[in-house]
Amino acid sequence: MTEKDFLPKAYDAMPEEGKATWKAPSNIALIKYWGKHKGQIPANPSISFTLDACATTTSVHYEKKGPKKTDFSFDLFFEGKPKEDFKPKIQTFFERIEPYVPFLKGYDLVIETSNSFPHSSGIASSASGMAALSLCLMEIEKQLDPEMTREHFLRKASFLARLGSGSACRSIEGDLITWGEHSGIPESSNLYGMKYPFEVHPIFKNYHDTILLVHKGQKQVSSTVGHNLMNGHPFANERFKQAHGNMERLKGILADGNLEAFMALVESEALTLHAMMMTSTPYFILMRPGTLEIINKIWEFRKETKTPICFTLDAGANVHVLYPESVKEKAIQFIQDELVGHCENGHYLCDRIGKGAIKL
Ligand code: PMV
Repeated sequence: MTEKDFLPKAYDAMPEEGKATWKAPSNIALIKYWGKHKGQIPANPSISFTLDACATTTSVHYEKKGPKKTDFSFDLFFEGKPKEDFKPKIQTFFERIEPYVPFLKGYDLVIETSNSFPHSSGIASSASGMAALSLCLMEIEKQLDPEMTREHFLRKASFLARLGSGSACRSIEGDLITWGEHSGIPESSNLYGMKYPFEVHPIFKNYHDTILLVHKGQKQVSSTVGHNLMNGHPFANERFKQAHGNMERLKGILADGNLEAFMALVESEALTLHAMMMTSTPYFILMRPGTLEIINKIWEFRKETKTPICFTLDAGANVHVLYPESVKEKAIQFIQDELVGHCENGHYLCDRIGKGAIKL
Protein backbone atom coordinates (compact mmCIF):
# COMPACT_ATOMS: atom_id res chain seq x y z
CA MET A 1 0.00 0.00 0.00
CA THR A 2 1.09 3.57 -0.55
CA GLU A 3 0.12 6.88 1.04
CA LYS A 4 -2.43 7.38 -1.76
CA ASP A 5 -4.45 4.41 -0.50
CA PHE A 6 -5.27 6.43 2.62
CA LEU A 7 -6.77 9.38 0.77
CA PRO A 8 -10.52 9.29 1.42
CA LYS A 9 -13.31 8.92 -1.12
CA ALA A 10 -15.47 11.96 -1.85
CA TYR A 11 -18.08 12.22 0.90
CA ASP A 12 -21.77 12.61 0.09
CA ALA A 13 -22.95 14.10 3.32
CA MET A 14 -21.33 15.19 6.55
CA PRO A 15 -23.13 14.45 9.84
CA GLU A 16 -24.13 17.57 11.81
CA GLU A 17 -22.60 16.46 15.08
CA GLY A 18 -21.58 13.47 17.12
CA LYS A 19 -19.07 12.07 19.58
CA ALA A 20 -16.49 9.30 19.32
CA THR A 21 -14.62 7.76 22.25
CA TRP A 22 -11.72 5.30 22.16
CA LYS A 23 -9.31 3.88 24.70
CA ALA A 24 -5.87 3.02 23.31
CA PRO A 25 -3.02 1.32 25.17
CA SER A 26 0.65 2.11 25.40
CA ASN A 27 3.21 -0.32 23.97
CA ILE A 28 6.74 -1.44 24.79
CA ALA A 29 9.17 -2.15 21.98
CA LEU A 30 11.25 -5.33 22.00
CA ILE A 31 13.15 -4.24 18.88
CA LYS A 32 13.49 -0.48 19.06
CA TYR A 33 12.63 2.18 16.54
CA TRP A 34 15.32 4.84 16.82
CA GLY A 35 16.06 6.98 13.81
CA LYS A 36 13.66 8.12 11.11
CA HIS A 37 13.41 9.68 7.66
CA LYS A 38 11.20 12.49 6.46
CA GLY A 39 7.45 11.86 6.88
CA GLN A 40 7.84 9.69 10.00
CA ILE A 41 9.34 6.80 8.05
CA PRO A 42 11.28 4.53 10.42
CA ALA A 43 14.94 3.85 9.70
CA ASN A 44 14.49 0.23 10.81
CA PRO A 45 11.70 -2.22 11.58
CA SER A 46 10.50 -2.55 15.18
CA ILE A 47 8.20 -4.84 17.15
CA SER A 48 6.34 -4.29 20.41
CA PHE A 49 4.10 -5.85 22.99
CA THR A 50 0.86 -3.93 23.19
CA LEU A 51 0.17 -3.12 26.85
CA ASP A 52 -3.12 -3.30 28.67
CA ALA A 53 -3.36 -1.14 31.80
CA CYS A 54 -1.39 1.91 30.65
CA ALA A 55 -3.82 3.58 28.28
CA THR A 56 -5.29 6.88 27.13
CA THR A 57 -9.02 7.48 26.76
CA THR A 58 -9.97 10.21 24.31
CA SER A 59 -13.30 11.46 23.14
CA VAL A 60 -13.88 13.86 20.27
CA HIS A 61 -17.10 15.79 20.04
CA TYR A 62 -17.61 17.15 16.52
CA GLU A 63 -20.07 19.75 15.32
CA LYS A 64 -20.32 21.20 11.84
CA LYS A 65 -19.00 24.72 11.78
CA GLY A 66 -19.92 27.83 9.83
CA PRO A 67 -18.38 28.36 6.39
CA LYS A 68 -16.35 31.36 7.58
CA LYS A 69 -14.04 29.38 9.82
CA THR A 70 -11.31 28.06 7.58
CA ASP A 71 -8.63 26.77 9.98
CA PHE A 72 -8.75 23.81 12.35
CA SER A 73 -10.97 24.56 15.31
CA PHE A 74 -10.53 22.56 18.48
CA ASP A 75 -10.60 22.84 22.25
CA LEU A 76 -8.54 20.47 24.31
CA PHE A 77 -9.16 19.20 27.83
CA PHE A 78 -6.74 16.97 29.71
CA GLU A 79 -8.18 15.25 32.77
CA GLY A 80 -11.08 17.68 32.74
CA LYS A 81 -9.04 20.89 32.49
CA PRO A 82 -8.21 23.01 29.43
CA LYS A 83 -4.68 22.20 28.28
CA GLU A 84 -3.28 24.95 26.10
CA ASP A 85 0.27 23.58 26.03
CA PHE A 86 -0.84 20.37 24.26
CA LYS A 87 -2.47 22.34 21.47
CA PRO A 88 0.57 23.07 19.25
CA LYS A 89 1.33 19.33 19.03
CA ILE A 90 -2.25 18.59 18.00
CA GLN A 91 -2.24 21.48 15.52
CA THR A 92 0.94 20.08 13.88
CA PHE A 93 -0.62 16.62 13.84
CA PHE A 94 -3.78 17.94 12.15
CA GLU A 95 -1.69 19.79 9.55
CA ARG A 96 0.19 16.59 8.73
CA ILE A 97 -2.87 14.40 8.44
CA GLU A 98 -5.17 16.89 6.72
CA PRO A 99 -4.90 15.41 3.19
CA TYR A 100 -6.12 12.08 4.62
CA VAL A 101 -8.94 13.50 6.79
CA PRO A 102 -10.03 16.64 4.92
CA PHE A 103 -13.37 16.70 6.80
CA LEU A 104 -11.50 17.90 9.91
CA LYS A 105 -11.65 21.55 8.89
CA GLY A 106 -15.41 21.27 8.55
CA TYR A 107 -15.94 20.73 12.28
CA ASP A 108 -15.53 22.42 15.64
CA LEU A 109 -13.92 19.74 17.79
CA VAL A 110 -13.80 19.29 21.54
CA ILE A 111 -11.12 16.79 22.49
CA GLU A 112 -11.18 15.36 26.01
CA THR A 113 -8.39 13.06 27.02
CA SER A 114 -7.11 11.32 30.15
CA ASN A 115 -4.54 8.70 31.03
CA SER A 116 -4.95 5.63 33.21
CA PHE A 117 -1.48 6.16 34.63
CA PRO A 118 -0.71 9.02 36.99
CA HIS A 119 0.18 12.38 35.52
CA SER A 120 3.95 13.01 35.46
CA SER A 121 4.73 9.35 36.05
CA GLY A 122 7.48 9.67 33.45
CA ILE A 123 5.48 7.37 31.17
CA ALA A 124 5.16 8.89 27.72
CA SER A 125 1.54 9.13 26.70
CA SER A 126 2.24 10.14 23.11
CA ALA A 127 1.81 6.60 21.75
CA SER A 128 -1.49 5.86 23.49
CA GLY A 129 -2.67 9.47 23.09
CA MET A 130 -2.05 9.71 19.36
CA ALA A 131 -3.53 6.25 18.84
CA ALA A 132 -6.72 7.10 20.74
CA LEU A 133 -7.14 10.40 18.90
CA SER A 134 -6.55 8.77 15.51
CA LEU A 135 -9.18 6.13 16.27
CA CYS A 136 -11.69 8.86 17.16
CA LEU A 137 -10.96 10.61 13.86
CA MET A 138 -11.47 7.33 12.01
CA GLU A 139 -14.79 6.95 13.81
CA ILE A 140 -15.84 10.28 12.28
CA GLU A 141 -14.62 9.17 8.86
CA LYS A 142 -16.64 5.98 9.25
CA GLN A 143 -19.79 8.08 9.59
CA LEU A 144 -18.91 9.63 6.24
CA ASP A 145 -17.99 6.31 4.63
CA PRO A 146 -20.09 3.58 6.29
CA GLU A 147 -18.85 0.94 3.83
CA MET A 148 -15.33 1.14 5.21
CA THR A 149 -13.96 -2.26 6.24
CA ARG A 150 -12.68 -2.91 9.76
CA GLU A 151 -9.29 -3.72 8.29
CA HIS A 152 -9.07 -0.34 6.55
CA PHE A 153 -10.37 1.42 9.66
CA LEU A 154 -7.62 -0.02 11.87
CA ARG A 155 -4.90 0.29 9.27
CA LYS A 156 -5.67 3.91 8.57
CA ALA A 157 -5.88 4.65 12.32
CA SER A 158 -2.36 3.24 12.61
CA PHE A 159 -1.26 5.25 9.56
CA LEU A 160 -2.60 8.49 11.10
CA ALA A 161 -1.19 7.71 14.54
CA ARG A 162 2.24 7.22 12.99
CA LEU A 163 2.10 10.77 11.70
CA GLY A 164 1.49 11.97 15.27
CA SER A 165 4.18 9.92 16.98
CA GLY A 166 5.93 7.04 15.21
CA SER A 167 5.54 4.36 17.86
CA ALA A 168 1.84 5.26 18.24
CA CYS A 169 1.15 3.23 15.10
CA ARG A 170 1.89 0.14 17.21
CA SER A 171 -0.83 1.05 19.77
CA ILE A 172 -3.96 0.22 17.78
CA GLU A 173 -4.12 -3.57 17.90
CA GLY A 174 -2.67 -6.30 20.10
CA ASP A 175 -0.80 -8.23 21.09
CA LEU A 176 2.49 -8.24 19.16
CA ILE A 177 2.78 -5.51 16.57
CA THR A 178 5.44 -4.95 13.97
CA TRP A 179 6.09 -1.74 12.04
CA GLY A 180 8.60 -1.11 9.28
CA GLU A 181 9.57 -2.96 6.14
CA HIS A 182 11.41 -6.22 6.71
CA SER A 183 12.28 -8.73 4.01
CA GLY A 184 11.19 -11.63 6.24
CA ILE A 185 7.74 -10.21 7.06
CA PRO A 186 5.39 -10.23 4.08
CA GLU A 187 3.35 -7.04 3.67
CA SER A 188 5.28 -5.26 6.42
CA SER A 189 5.11 -1.52 5.88
CA ASN A 190 6.82 1.67 6.93
CA LEU A 191 3.43 3.37 6.86
CA TYR A 192 1.54 1.49 9.60
CA GLY A 193 1.84 -1.18 12.22
CA MET A 194 0.43 -4.68 11.70
CA LYS A 195 -0.18 -7.76 13.76
CA TYR A 196 2.89 -9.98 13.88
CA PRO A 197 1.89 -12.62 11.32
CA PHE A 198 3.84 -15.71 12.46
CA GLU A 199 3.49 -18.40 15.07
CA VAL A 200 4.03 -17.29 18.67
CA HIS A 201 4.75 -19.77 21.47
CA PRO A 202 2.13 -19.68 24.28
CA ILE A 203 4.78 -18.59 26.81
CA PHE A 204 4.62 -15.12 25.22
CA LYS A 205 0.85 -14.89 25.36
CA ASN A 206 0.45 -13.66 28.94
CA TYR A 207 3.69 -11.77 29.34
CA HIS A 208 3.93 -9.22 32.14
CA ASP A 209 5.56 -5.80 32.14
CA THR A 210 6.10 -4.17 35.53
CA ILE A 211 7.19 -0.60 34.94
CA LEU A 212 9.57 0.72 37.58
CA LEU A 213 9.35 4.51 37.78
CA VAL A 214 12.95 5.39 38.54
CA HIS A 215 12.54 8.97 37.44
CA LYS A 216 9.16 10.61 37.01
CA GLY A 217 10.16 13.98 35.59
CA GLN A 218 10.15 15.15 32.01
CA LYS A 219 12.36 13.24 29.62
CA GLN A 220 15.84 14.72 29.28
CA VAL A 221 15.76 14.24 25.51
CA SER A 222 12.54 14.41 23.51
CA SER A 223 12.11 11.59 21.04
CA THR A 224 12.20 14.10 18.15
CA VAL A 225 15.67 15.22 19.24
CA GLY A 226 16.64 11.61 19.88
CA HIS A 227 15.67 10.37 16.42
CA ASN A 228 17.53 13.29 14.85
CA LEU A 229 20.69 12.29 16.67
CA MET A 230 20.78 9.22 14.43
CA ASN A 231 21.36 11.44 11.37
CA GLY A 232 25.08 11.36 10.77
CA HIS A 233 25.61 9.09 13.81
CA PRO A 234 28.82 7.11 13.21
CA PHE A 235 27.17 3.78 14.11
CA ALA A 236 23.72 4.39 12.64
CA ASN A 237 23.98 2.14 9.59
CA GLU A 238 25.31 -0.78 11.60
CA ARG A 239 22.50 -0.27 14.11
CA PHE A 240 19.85 -0.32 11.40
CA LYS A 241 21.33 -3.51 9.95
CA GLN A 242 21.41 -5.04 13.42
CA ALA A 243 17.69 -4.32 13.92
CA HIS A 244 16.89 -6.17 10.67
CA GLY A 245 19.00 -9.12 11.83
CA ASN A 246 17.40 -9.10 15.28
CA MET A 247 13.94 -9.17 13.73
CA GLU A 248 14.84 -12.30 11.79
CA ARG A 249 16.29 -13.94 14.92
CA LEU A 250 13.27 -12.97 16.99
CA LYS A 251 10.99 -14.85 14.59
CA GLY A 252 12.67 -18.12 15.56
CA ILE A 253 12.69 -17.21 19.25
CA LEU A 254 9.00 -16.31 19.31
CA ALA A 255 8.10 -19.57 17.58
CA ASP A 256 10.27 -21.79 19.83
CA GLY A 257 9.57 -20.02 23.13
CA ASN A 258 13.32 -19.82 23.76
CA LEU A 259 13.30 -17.52 26.78
CA GLU A 260 17.10 -17.43 27.19
CA ALA A 261 17.51 -16.11 23.65
CA PHE A 262 14.50 -13.79 24.05
CA MET A 263 15.93 -12.16 27.16
CA ALA A 264 19.37 -11.74 25.58
CA LEU A 265 17.92 -10.13 22.47
CA VAL A 266 15.53 -7.79 24.31
CA GLU A 267 18.15 -6.59 26.80
CA SER A 268 20.68 -6.06 24.03
CA GLU A 269 18.15 -3.96 22.10
CA ALA A 270 17.53 -1.77 25.17
CA LEU A 271 21.23 -1.26 25.85
CA THR A 272 21.91 -0.57 22.17
CA LEU A 273 19.27 2.17 22.19
CA HIS A 274 21.04 3.78 25.14
CA ALA A 275 24.47 3.18 23.59
CA MET A 276 23.30 5.11 20.52
CA MET A 277 22.45 8.03 22.77
CA MET A 278 25.73 7.84 24.64
CA THR A 279 27.68 7.90 21.37
CA SER A 280 25.79 10.64 19.54
CA THR A 281 26.77 14.29 19.23
CA PRO A 282 25.74 15.76 21.62
CA TYR A 283 25.76 12.69 23.91
CA PHE A 284 23.32 11.81 26.67
CA ILE A 285 23.08 9.36 29.54
CA LEU A 286 19.42 8.71 30.17
CA MET A 287 19.87 5.99 32.77
CA ARG A 288 20.01 6.99 36.42
CA PRO A 289 21.93 5.22 39.21
CA GLY A 290 18.68 3.45 40.11
CA THR A 291 18.37 2.12 36.56
CA LEU A 292 21.77 0.44 36.81
CA GLU A 293 21.09 -0.90 40.30
CA ILE A 294 17.90 -2.50 39.02
CA ILE A 295 19.60 -4.00 35.96
CA ASN A 296 22.35 -5.52 38.09
CA LYS A 297 19.87 -6.93 40.58
CA ILE A 298 17.82 -8.50 37.76
CA TRP A 299 20.96 -10.15 36.40
CA GLU A 300 21.97 -11.47 39.83
CA PHE A 301 18.48 -12.78 40.59
CA ARG A 302 18.25 -14.46 37.20
CA LYS A 303 21.63 -16.12 37.65
CA GLU A 304 20.89 -17.33 41.17
CA THR A 305 17.30 -18.45 40.77
CA LYS A 306 17.11 -19.20 37.01
CA THR A 307 13.88 -17.18 36.91
CA PRO A 308 13.30 -15.90 33.35
CA ILE A 309 12.97 -12.22 34.12
CA CYS A 310 14.59 -9.50 32.03
CA PHE A 311 14.41 -5.78 31.39
CA THR A 312 13.92 -3.35 28.60
CA LEU A 313 14.16 0.44 28.56
CA ASP A 314 12.69 3.18 26.47
CA ALA A 315 14.40 6.52 25.99
CA GLY A 316 14.51 7.33 29.70
CA ALA A 317 15.51 6.05 33.14
CA ASN A 318 12.46 3.86 33.86
CA VAL A 319 12.81 0.10 33.67
CA HIS A 320 10.27 -2.29 32.15
CA VAL A 321 10.61 -5.68 33.85
CA LEU A 322 9.38 -8.45 31.55
CA TYR A 323 8.45 -11.99 32.66
CA PRO A 324 6.04 -14.77 31.74
CA GLU A 325 2.84 -15.55 33.66
CA SER A 326 4.38 -18.79 34.99
CA VAL A 327 6.81 -16.90 37.28
CA LYS A 328 4.47 -14.07 38.21
CA GLU A 329 4.46 -14.61 42.01
CA LYS A 330 8.22 -15.01 42.23
CA ALA A 331 8.85 -11.98 40.03
CA ILE A 332 6.48 -9.68 41.93
CA GLN A 333 7.99 -10.75 45.24
CA PHE A 334 11.49 -10.03 43.95
CA ILE A 335 10.39 -6.67 42.51
CA GLN A 336 8.81 -5.63 45.79
CA ASP A 337 11.68 -6.83 47.96
CA GLU A 338 14.62 -5.69 45.85
CA LEU A 339 13.70 -3.25 43.10
CA VAL A 340 10.93 -0.95 44.28
CA GLY A 341 13.38 0.79 46.64
CA HIS A 342 15.07 2.27 43.55
CA CYS A 343 11.83 3.81 42.26
CA GLU A 344 10.90 7.43 42.86
CA ASN A 345 8.63 7.36 45.92
CA GLY A 346 8.49 3.58 45.51
CA HIS A 347 6.17 3.90 42.51
CA TYR A 348 5.68 1.22 39.90
CA LEU A 349 2.92 0.10 37.53
CA CYS A 350 1.85 -3.47 36.88
CA ASP A 351 0.97 -4.06 33.27
CA ARG A 352 0.76 -6.99 30.87
CA ILE A 353 0.43 -7.74 27.20
CA GLY A 354 -2.92 -6.52 25.87
CA LYS A 355 -5.36 -6.94 23.02
CA GLY A 356 -5.40 -3.42 21.62
CA ALA A 357 -7.62 -0.37 21.58
CA ILE A 358 -11.33 -0.49 22.36
CA LYS A 359 -14.26 1.69 21.39
CA LEU A 360 -16.19 3.02 24.38
O1 PMV B 1 7.34 7.29 18.84
P1 PMV B 1 8.47 8.11 19.29
O2 PMV B 1 8.91 9.11 18.25
O3 PMV B 1 8.22 8.76 20.63
O4 PMV B 1 9.75 7.16 19.49
C1 PMV B 1 9.78 6.12 20.44
C2 PMV B 1 11.09 5.46 20.48
C3 PMV B 1 11.31 4.41 21.54
O5 PMV B 1 10.28 4.39 22.50
C4 PMV B 1 12.60 4.70 22.27
C5 PMV B 1 11.46 3.03 20.90
C6 PMV B 1 10.20 2.41 20.36
O6 PMV B 1 10.31 1.69 19.35
O7 PMV B 1 9.13 2.58 20.94
